[in-house]
Amino acid sequence: MNILGLETSCDETAASVVRDGRDVLSSIVYTQIAHHRPYGGVVPEIASRMHVEHLPAVIEEAVSASGIGWDDLDAIAVTQGPGLASSLLVGLAGAKALAIRLNKPLIGINHLEGHIYSIFLDNLELLPASLCPFLALVVSGGHTCFIQVNAIGDYHLLGRTVDDAAGEAFDKGANLLKLGYPGGPAIDKAARNGSTEFATFPRGLIRKVNARLPGLNPKYCVSFSGLKTSLLYHIKDHPLGSGPDADVNNLAASYQEAIVDTLVQRASHASETTRVMAVVGGVSLNRRLREKLADMAGKRRLKLVLANPRYCTDNAAMIAGLAFHKWNSRLPLEESLNMDVDPNMGIGE
Ligand code: KG4
Ligand code: ZN
Repeated sequence: MNILGLETSCDETAASVVRDGRDVLSSIVYTQIAHHRPYGGVVPEIASRMHVEHLPAVIEEAVSASGIGWDDLDAIAVTQGPGLASSLLVGLAGAKALAIRLNKPLIGINHLEGHIYSIFLDNLELLPASLCPFLALVVSGGHTCFIQVNAIGDYHLLGRTVDDAAGEAFDKGANLLKLGYPGGPAIDKAARNGSTEFATFPRGLIRKVNARLPGLNPKYCVSFSGLKTSLLYHIKDHPLGSGPDADVNNLAASYQEAIVDTLVQRASHASETTRVMAVVGGVSLNRRLREKLADMAGKRRLKLVLANPRYCTDNAAMIAGLAFHKWNSRLPLEESLNMDVDPNMGIGE
């Protein structure tokens, strides 16, 4: 079964053809980073306009690179949420148009579920049935959550961030350190030449139940807004470029360490009852996070599963791949055309 997937939830315009949920025949990602860089973050109006401009060509390229014809497609899958409403709408409109033109089912996909599924792409040895149940740590620019995966489609949200996502903490920190956008890769790189013990930043561990955590255990929740404020005050006291206390590489290493320690500590708690931990999303590319998670997993005899780096940041292969497993719950085309975007779509709540 060949499924064409579209992903436009944030600032990547992506299309991909995946066969039988695993075999990625093509995965095209047009990244808009250069257009958002001057603003230090994603500008929703620009993102949605760029999706409109680039989605048709990205789809054409994905189908042509897949080596199969339009008639060989069995379904169209699209990210329904969560994400920026104006960006999601472009992908959904494109997917509906294709579904009507090709007379094929339209399957809506949860972006977070897609990220979790990314570990199975191009990896025939990893079988969902034998891996489950496992803990998934979704760490990206827009999300940070700890999810127990009982089966594909059966999730239990253990915890999440109460404010900024881990990727957002990297992006905002890099902005303060004037390292550019996106901040994750920039801090990752600068930190390699810095000391993690140069400055002490707060670990964002939530200790008490609070109103922002309905039904969640604070043991599995994190907060990154205090960390960012703490870096801001450090820079106010020691302006960048003013002397040894303002060394950017050292600050990057210490700041990164606080994010990584927070995530690893929570992941350690959340994985107490499982033997497998999967880490997905853009922040899972972070070198220090990988190192410390591998160390923790080794000590705890946990199996650590990471996605192929190509599928860590936003892509459409994870959407098309997951849709294969949603085939049985597809709706008749007419009915599926009533589908709407869901910018706040949750998972396992
Ligand atoms: O998964 P993704 O493409 O977007 C969302 O679904 O939100 O992740 C993008 C995020 C950005 O915040 C970026 O700074 C971060 O992933 N990121 C990293 C690294 N590479 C990308 N964060 C830390 N270290 C990295 N090496
Ligand atoms: Zn994402």
